[in-house]
Amino acid sequence: MKVLVLHGSPRRNGDTDTLAESFVRGLKSTGGHDIRHVYTNEINVRPCQMCQSCGRSKDAKCAIDDDMQTIYPAFIEAQLIVWASPMIWGYLTAQLKAVLDRMEALAMIPERSFVGKTYVVILGYRHHYQSAAAFFERICRFYGISLHTVIYCSLDPKGGGDPPASASRDKMVEAFELGARLGMERCTAAR
Ligand SMILES: Cc1cc2nc3c(=O)[nH]c(=O)nc-3n(C[C@H](O)[C@H](O)[C@H](O)COP(=O)(O)O)c2cc1C
Repeated sequence: MKVLVLHGSPRRNGDTDTLAESFVRGLKSTGGHDIRHVYTNEINVRPCQMCQSCGRSKDAKCAIDDDMQTIYPAFIEAQLIVWASPMIWGYLTAQLKAVLDRMEALAMIPERSFVGKTYVVILGYRHHYQSAAAFFERICRFYGISLHTVIYCSLDPKGGGDPPASASRDKMVEAFELGARLGMERCTAAR
């Protein structure tokens, strides 16, 4: 299976990276998948300019010539996409949101780009994650995308600190087992 992992956090090896890696380990335990990681903080993706040239172009091409041009084909080819982001001010990071907004071009041909895919949404938060979760629920229902979520609350209610996701055995196992389950389902479907 072709998998695209979109990392939204600027913090390498933070909670959402850690859970995404655990998910990927689960996936890999079921066979040789083709997995591509994109660290959105380390690439150059401009915000959508709302020029609508994608809507006017025959092949729904975005006019902005930046790193998004390599993400588009990887996204179209992938059967499974992981969206991993910490919550910041009630939503995804700006880095991941920029990638999400540029999906406007792909929405011009949804049956090529979205329909039948699987999304795994990994969110880390302290106080609130519902706005991002609700967005993915709505969009997945609309486009016929299968949605799975792993939600991690980093706030320790007793001490007020943020223990790392790696210290939460339950969450690490949840992410691993989801990866193993989805990997196995694909392997079975491919037979
Ligand atoms: C600078 C900063 C801002 C944050 N803002 C929010 C926020 O607005 N809402 C929230 O629920 N959590 C907030 N958090 C908590 C993070 O979303 C949470 O700890 C997450 O698990 C971090 O993921 P990461 O380690 O992958 O970056 C914030 C954390 C930091 C460091």
